[in-house]
Amino acid sequence: MKIAIGSDHAGFPLKEEIRMHLEETGVEYIDCGVYNTESADYPVQAKITCEKITSGECERGILCCGTGIGICMSANKIKGIRAASCSDYFSAKYTRLHNDANVLCLGARVIGPGAAMELVDVFLSAEFEGGRHARRVNLITELENEN
Ligand code: RB5
Repeated sequence: MKIAIGSDHAGFPLKEEIRMHLEETGVEYIDCGVYNTESADYPVQAKITCEKITSGECERGILCCGTGIGICMSANKIKGIRAASCSDYFSAKYTRLHNDANVLCLGARVIGPGAAMELVDVFLSAEFEGGRHARRVNLITELENEN
């Protein structure tokens, strides 16, 4: 599985920690930037990263900004993206199991790297349960198509 990672300037330090973690654990990734702490707009970075998923080049994504919220709001405007901003293990796991989330958003000013790596690992390993949850995810897609 190939992962797209991206961040704005506030998320950059955490994105770097994640990038190194993916290197260490042998997960293939594309780093969509940013590449330093110069001010950057999170909607722009969300778009660049999420397009790697909607194009099929990557299966899942991880986005970081200061809170994990702005970049998540932006990602969820992109057709085919189901992004979840998480700061606890349970949410990161169940957004895969029940929502088939394809993007995990993290707040670099909210959680430390230790906790973040636990969320990354469970998000990348947990699989969608399907069944009744598939019907609900399909309803999300319907909403997306209607609006
Ligand atoms: C940037 O200062 C900050 O607003 C951004 O990273 C994010 O937290 C927005 O939701």
